[in-house]
Amino acid sequence: MAVREILKYPDPVLRKVALPVERVTDATVRLVHDMVETMYAAPGVGLAAPQIGELHRIIVLDVDYQERGKRLIKLINPVICRSEGEQIWEEGCLSVKDFTAEVKRAARVEVVGLNEKEQEVRIEAEELLAVALQHEIDHLDGKLFIDRISRLRRDLYTRRLKKSLRSGKPQPEAPRVLI
Ligand code: NI
Repeated sequence: MAVREILKYPDPVLRKVALPVERVTDATVRLVHDMVETMYAAPGVGLAAPQIGELHRIIVLDVDYQERGKRLIKLINPVICRSEGEQIWEEGCLSVKDFTAEVKRAARVEVVGLNEKEQEVRIEAEELLAVALQHEIDHLDGKLFIDRISRLRRDLYTRRLKKSLRSGKPQPEAPRVLI
């Protein structure tokens, strides 16, 4: 297992649509392990394969900050099969530096996918886990949470990011939940 580098916005790889996993191989299992290790090292509550430059439809999540590993979820080819209600959560992302914003998403989702043994896994989620599942599945489609906020807010962020990348100084706003 290895901790991998997490790509940061505006890296173009983050904008690509990831491909479904046709067959779970040893390489798939190794990739999932790397993703789990990278998520915990970051630390974050979720990670999608494209964030480490692997364009496969795989996500890992663990929204429990207290007891790491107890609620670990690994999903291959996840699909949202049901969603209902609305909730607003202050989101951040391991691939979007020093920025958080309120994002409106479904309050409850049901997600179906495969585990590493190619068995079907079905998860019903609400609150942060529902947010994180939707956020990670967005990554598989090349979408970031900043695409789901107002254009004004996004433009403010991208201007601030450009300025900070030029100056080498960190930005003032610190993320709370890193998905
Ligand atoms: Ni993210």
